[in-house]
Amino acid sequence: MTTVYLGTLAHLRGNPFVRPDGLEIIADGALWVDGDGRIAGYGRAAEAPEGAERVDFGAAWLLPGLIDAHLHFPQYYAVAAANRGLLSWLRETVYPEEAAFRDAGYAAGVARALVARLLHGGVTCACVFGSQYPEATGALFEAAGQAGLRLIAGITLMDRNGPDELLTTPERAWRANEALLERYGGDPRLHLALTPRFALSCSPQLLAMCGEFRRRHPQVYLQTHINETLEEIAAVQRVFPDAWNYLDVYDRYGLLGPRTLLAHDIHPQSAELRRMAESECRVIHCPSSNLFLGSGLFPLRRHVEHGIPLALGSDIGAGLHLSVWEELSEAYKIQRLRGETPTAAQLLYLATLGAAEALGLAGEIGNFLPGKVADFFVLDPGGDDYLDARLQRCPTLAARLFVLMQLAGSGHVRRTFVAGRPVSV
Ligand code: GUN
Ligand code: ZN
Repeated sequence: MTTVYLGTLAHLRGNPFVRPDGLEIIADGALWVDGDGRIAGYGRAAEAPEGAERVDFGAAWLLPGLIDAHLHFPQYYAVAAANRGLLSWLRETVYPEEAAFRDAGYAAGVARALVARLLHGGVTCACVFGSQYPEATGALFEAAGQAGLRLIAGITLMDRNGPDELLTTPERAWRANEALLERYGGDPRLHLALTPRFALSCSPQLLAMCGEFRRRHPQVYLQTHINETLEEIAAVQRVFPDAWNYLDVYDRYGLLGPRTLLAHDIHPQSAELRRMAESECRVIHCPSSNLFLGSGLFPLRRHVEHGIPLALGSDIGAGLHLSVWEELSEAYKIQRLRGETPTAAQLLYLATLGAAEALGLAGEIGNFLPGKVADFFVLDPGGDDYLDARLQRCPTLAARLFVLMQLAGSGHVRRTFVAGRPVSV
């Protein structure tokens, strides 16, 4: 049974950093979805198959599900704390809240709330730093699995430079990751990511364990942080005096590759960018986090010039937004401060198709090509009189999309669909 959804369609058919014609917007458009939750086709409403059930979203926009490629589960209630930069914020705000996840009941409640909030904001795929407590991270997988959120996640691993209650050992970390892999590895929407927090919270033995685990289980992702603040980079240099640079710490332990997701990279050396490109690492840009912690202005163009695949992250709780849609405006403003002017197509790419490519999931998600999974959301400016009137005055559909990126947010998301079904959490 096919269902036809009507509205204004927008998605990317290619990489707009390479070719300018990747963005496709169809006013009076239609998306038709098979009973198995896959996209059967899209086009103008008049071209949609007849006889199918029709769901008309009027003037609303149909967009591919958003991909939030970096956030922290146990920081869901740590958002918006006043701070004096990354390292003191971790000590004073983050670690005490993360320790609360030792209580599995508390963790399960937060997991359900976070997953619901992401889906309500149009996010259908997320890369998440889980709790240090394996049971709490298991609750995150359960909540995502039940609600249909596509999840890449793992236990946040640290074995030094933090409060005792958050630390593990390489042996315990190995066993806990194997247990998660065994429990959830068979679900096509759930993926394990080894998650060493960052170089400063990991001993050489813990990093070596991660390298060995990846060799044993090459399908797992690895996510961590890099080059976020100058203070952090200087500390890494002191703790790993033999490393050529920050990236080299991870490189020495075999942690680089196409499934490696490196968050931030605001202050990279050119040698690091070359090595990231060569080893096919992915970089996740977290705009509101970078502004809120005062970490710096992400050098987008340098990454693009090196051909490094990019995605965006809300970085909850350093970031301020619960939907990655709201990160698009922050990303634009950061690039303006660098003298650049990203287009609406480039911004949408970073949150959809580009992110799917970066995560190796573009065969399944990222745009509306037939055969892909029907993960999408409905952004509805109707009911917001000012936004509606502002959109009426745009000369082009691309200009409208850009205004939506600046002015619309989670509150304008009318519905989210995963695998062709409306989300019900
Ligand atoms: N670096 C290490 N841990 C963290 C974290 O929790 N948030 C951010 N923004 N950076 C980190
Ligand atoms: Zn982070």
